[in-house]
Amino acid sequence: MSGMPSLEAGRRRVAALLGLPQLHGRIHQLERRVESLETQLHESREEAWERSRTRWRAAEPTRNLTWDVELTGGAFIDRAEHHGAFGEDRHIVEVGPGYGRLLEAVIERRLPFAGYTGVDLSEQNVSHLSQKFTGEAVSFVRADVEEVRLEQPVDTVLSSLTFKHLFPSFERALANLAGQMGPGGLVLFDLIEGSRRYFEEDGVTYIRWYERGEVEELLGRCGLELVAFEEVRHHPTLARLLVVGRRPT
Ligand SMILES: C[S@@+](CC[C@H](N)C(=O)[O-])C[C@H]1O[C@@H](n2cnc3c(N)ncnc32)[C@H](O)[C@@H]1O
Repeated sequence: MSGMPSLEAGRRRVAALLGLPQLHGRIHQLERRVESLETQLHESREEAWERSRTRWRAAEPTRNLTWDVELTGGAFIDRAEHHGAFGEDRHIVEVGPGYGRLLEAVIERRLPFAGYTGVDLSEQNVSHLSQKFTGEAVSFVRADVEEVRLEQPVDTVLSSLTFKHLFPSFERALANLAGQMGPGGLVLFDLIEGSRRYFEEDGVTYIRWYERGEVEELLGRCGLELVAFEEVRHHPTLARLLVVGRRPT
């Protein structure tokens, strides 16, 4: 039967021409996504909270934490400096330091501080940062921001690209930090502006967007007042809403 293409080979060629294998692949992907959404629908809030921590507990200190782009912390630190976040007598806490780009910018600019503590959920991040930054006044703690107990009253809280990942919102984290801030203490963190919330397709990366009114309400519930809404541009194409808050004196 040589020379005569079989019926099956012909069918395969027609299917390929119509793009059917790709379509099957996409349908299979969508089926898996629907199954995972169904599971999410029936899980408790505690289970979802636990899931939202999975990725970060295992995070590695690489640029994967910043969209696979090696970013500097300069833009964020410029805004923090403008608001008086640094000073010889100030104890600074950074939530979710990742691979340390904010602290690197602080050191490059020789900004003063009495202490700088990075709090991160990932053991690997903390171990990497402890080896990279060995200054006496710098330390790192592996802890969840919702529960961490700090040794000193906090004067400044900084957090970049992290509060948007806190499930179900950043309120418990901020309340925990605000309770350890001295009067006049400052907090600067960034968010995505809007009103969506979802787990990404990986099933473990939670993202919540916030409206400005909602942010002001959350600050108020934590005993903080709004200083300003600004923009922080981490990269020419990546701008975020920067929230600046303060504990009243
Ligand atoms: C998207 S990365 C941002 C890293 C860094 N802030 C930056 O802008 O380059 C989020 C960081 O927050 C940490 N993180 C996430 N949830 C946390 C939590 N509940 N408590 C403490 N750290 C957390 C992660 O381990 C990770 O280092």
